[in-house]
Parts: sequence; structure tokens; C-alpha cells
Amino acid sequence: MQTTLTDSIEIATEFLLAGEVVAFPTETVYGLGANVFDEMAIRKIFLAKGRPSDNPLIAHIGKLEDLQLLASEVTPAAEKFIARFFPGPLTLVLPKQPTISSLATARLNTIGIRMPRHPVAQSLLQTCGVPLVAPSANLSGKPSPTTWQAVQSDLDGRIACILRGEQAEVGLESTVVDCSGSVPVLLRAGAITLEQLQEIVPITRLAQWNASEPTRSPGLKYKHYSPQARVEITVDPRTNQSSTESAFIGLHQPSATADFKRVKVCQTIEEYAQSLFQFFRECDALGIEVIYCEAVSETGLGLALMDRIKRAAHG
Ligand code: TXA
Ligand code: MG
Repeated sequence: MQTTLTDSIEIATEFLLAGEVVAFPTETVYGLGANVFDEMAIRKIFLAKGRPSDNPLIAHIGKLEDLQLLASEVTPAAEKFIARFFPGPLTLVLPKQPTISSLATARLNTIGIRMPRHPVAQSLLQTCGVPLVAPSANLSGKPSPTTWQAVQSDLDGRIACILRGEQAEVGLESTVVDCSGSVPVLLRAGAITLEQLQEIVPITRLAQWNASEPTRSPGLKYKHYSPQARVEITVDPRTNQSSTESAFIGLHQPSATADFKRVKVCQTIEEYAQSLFQFFRECDALGIEVIYCEAVSETGLGLALMDRIKRAAHG
């Protein structure tokens, strides 16, 4: 299959309404979209990514009215999060409408819903006129793509179209909160932080990954965000041992700079989050064997950043 690269919302829309899958930019990472009401198109997402069929997709909406097409109930906590954080990098898990294909939700009776704030994503959703289910636009198991070039390197020839945009602003996938019960549960940390959620709904809690909640977010059991290189978490970059085929990313200059093949020192935690997945991909292209990632405190955005780094390190 020839993959069309375009900057045109209209061309991307034509592909989507013709039942094809299209990669598009969002503020978190690039998504691989399909019409939520087109089961054949949804099937193409799983095929193109090599995604296990028990991993549910997030539905993206362009307008709040579309919530009712997807969710059978919007719980009081969800109402509050929507009022405060939509559009933005937040996905809410809600009871699903029976009309939604069980392929999209991996046979769960809930559906993840998000309203992206990225202007290109918004205008694509508006022009299509239907919600789009979209996982991150990477091959299953690879780091999520934060540039259209990363999408192209994973999915060229496997999807109909890539709608090009800038590098993703956040760089980590959306915060996922299960709002289907009476207590909101944070399933995946992201740029909307636990602290911000608790400001709005104080009883919001972190998921306990024990025997009672093994499949609450099926996607989280898969190896994720992993470069080819081994990822090591380092607490003090100044005492790092490095080999010739290693790289470093963090907030402080490591002392052994000269020995690293690549070093990225970020000015802020936001920049660290935005750069991480792209850095992983660049290191793989250079054949780096070990990537040292500086540990940060697990508060605010640091919770999401450390979650992704730990997954990459321990896979
Ligand atoms: O930022 C993002 O969320 C990006 C952009 C494209 O929107 N999308 C994304 O999708 O990261 P994906 O498929 O790579 O990750 C979706 C995560 C998975 O961990 C999945 O298990 C979880 O959300 N999820 C989706 N629907 C769910 C549901 N009904 N219940 C629990 N978890 C769900
Ligand atoms: Mg993904």
C-alpha cells in the first residue's frame, strides 16, 4: 500500500470516510484514526499496528455532544473532569453505548473517550463529523510517535495516509481515568496530573496493580514504550559509568559527557517528557546499546515520565 503524506484535512477526511486509517497529530502523541462506526476500518488499525485484539482503543471527539454517541452514562466525576480538562490530554473511561463495536473496546463494557485540544486534530474531527478511535500511531511495542517522521518509519506502506503536523507538544500519552465507578481511578499517568485531578475530585486514587485489578486497563500489561537499547534509570547523573555505545537523557549534565554517544540535557520536566520517546528512537537509529535516563521525583508530570521510563527499563 502506498502511504499518502499530506497537510490537507480534506484529503485525510476523504480517506477516513472511505474506511481507511489515517495517522494524525494530537497534543500528546500521534494517533492512528478510524471511524468509530466502521468495523472494517477498526480492524485495519489492529492489523497495521500488530496490536493484540484485547487492547481497547480510545475514541476521540470533536464536540461534547458526541459524548452521548459513545457513553451510555456520564458519571458526576466525569462531568467535573470534562468541565475542567476537555479539550486536553485526558481520557475518561465510561460505560459504553451498546452500538459501539466490541472490537474497538476489546469486549469491555466501557469505552475510553478523549477530546484532543490540538488544532489539527480538532479540525479533522470536525470535518469528519464522526468520532475517531485512535491508538498511538506506532507499531505495537515501539515508543509512541511524537513526530510524523516517527509514524512514517513505523507504518509506511501499512496505512493509507499520514496527516502531517508539528512535533507533539506533550510527548507522553494522555492521562487515563476510569470514571465508570463511584471513585475515579487513575489507570495511566499523563500531563493532567493526579494532583490536578484530586483538586477537582479529591477521592480520585491511583490504580492498585494487584490481583483484584489485573485487567482494568488491558493495554498496561503489554511491553510498552521500549527502544531496542537497554534502558537504565540513573539517580545521580554525575556518577554515571558510560560505555562508548551509550546515551544519556535527563535534567543535569552528566560528568562523563565525552563518553556518551548522545546526551540530551533538558531544561524542564516538560521538555524531558516531550523529548523522551523521540530520544529513544534517535538512539535506536544510532545503534546505541544503553540509554541512561535520569530519575525524577514522581509528582506532577514526573509520575507520568517515570512510569514510561520504568516501563522502558523493565518492560
Ligand atoms: O494520548 C493518547 O491517549 C493517544 C492519542 C493518540 O490520543 N492514544 C493512546 O492510545 O495512547 P493507546 O491505544 O496507545 O493507549 C490507550 C490506553 C491503553 O493502555 C488501553 O488499555 C487504555 O488506554 N484503555 C482504552 N480503553 C479502555 C477502557 N475501556 N478501559 C480501560 N482502559 C482502556
Ligand atoms: Mg499506544
